[in-house]
Amino acid sequence: MLFQLLRPAIFALDSESGHRLALDGLRLLPRRAPPPAGPLAVKVADIDFPNPVGVAAGFDKDAEVPDALLGLGFGFTEVGSITPLPQAGNPKPRLFRLIEDGAVINRMGFNNGGADAALERLEKRAGRPGIVGINIGANKDSPDRIADYAVMTKKMAPHASYLAVNISSPNTPGLRALQDETALTELLDAVAEARAELALEAPPPIFLKVAPDLESTDIDAISRIALEKGLGALIVSNTTISRPSLRSRHADEAGGLSGAPLKPLATQRIRDFRKSTGGQMPLIGVGGISSAEDAWERVRAGASLVQLYSAMVYEGPGLGARIVRGLEKLMKREGFKSIAEAVGSE
Ligand code: FNR
Repeated sequence: MLFQLLRPAIFALDSESGHRLALDGLRLLPRRAPPPAGPLAVKVADIDFPNPVGVAAGFDKDAEVPDALLGLGFGFTEVGSITPLPQAGNPKPRLFRLIEDGAVINRMGFNNGGADAALERLEKRAGRPGIVGINIGANKDSPDRIADYAVMTKKMAPHASYLAVNISSPNTPGLRALQDETALTELLDAVAEARAELALEAPPPIFLKVAPDLESTDIDAISRIALEKGLGALIVSNTTISRPSLRSRHADEAGGLSGAPLKPLATQRIRDFRKSTGGQMPLIGVGGISSAEDAWERVRAGASLVQLYSAMVYEGPGLGARIVRGLEKLMKREGFKSIAEAVGSE
């Protein structure tokens, strides 16, 4: 409601200033507890999620507002991507609203304040309830990107409900090559080793975030490796470098496309990964989810959890709670007793 009133003012700003304003607004909210486990509660990778609707990475890159987002009713939030060293990202403008398309194009390039700054914030919230995943990336200029992921694992694992290894941003040149079989195996071994060295009592599960722009042979290889390495979940998917037909004047901007036009592709990729993992690997559906119906469709296609970002640009951060309420109604109406029962039931 408040967002609908403020929207014209926010949209009068350039996209990045609008986003900054949203984060500052969230910081001012009185602290509220994360949502309690409700009828939509679901267990993934041994974590009890109170509901399956989460905030996707990139919204809260520097872990500034995880508790505010949880307090708004999201079942979980994923901070990051965070890289070992602070990084300015690409020159501005690098974030575009495609209003006519309900979409966003970004080429941010992992702008973030770096691991130590995020760590300081995360340490301050240690012990607070709520599921906060940490999405890790590599610095653009790193001579050894795999080593970056190992460093990030060591720093972040003690503070993470789960670690999301992001190798699918289209805005760091060469990053997505880490999805190739040999590189991916080496990367996941390095992350597992770094986590083991910490000898944590309860080590966080490792999730892997993939691109939607994959061939079926890539999907099969990633699925096989994910199962072999005992990953906790696959996050499907990041933004696309493809361009379905778009109307906005920003359609030809370089970068990753997200929001409504990504929905068909991201949903299809959930089906593809469900098939190639034989339903043995939990999937997190992301891309173009803007309603309870979208979230329900993604669950029915095979997602145990969903995340969103672009739709919040248009609908505000209260959208999460609205989707949770709608999803509860849909689940009941369709005669399902739990999300787990509905996963992949289409
Ligand atoms: C993103 N996304 C993203 N993903 C990631 O793993 N690390 C990141 O740093 C970012 N940064 C980022 C910035 C911006 C401005 C956007 C719009 C998106 C991708 C995001 O998490 C999600 O996968 C896609 O945006 C698809 O979901 P939506 O936006 O269609 O709901």
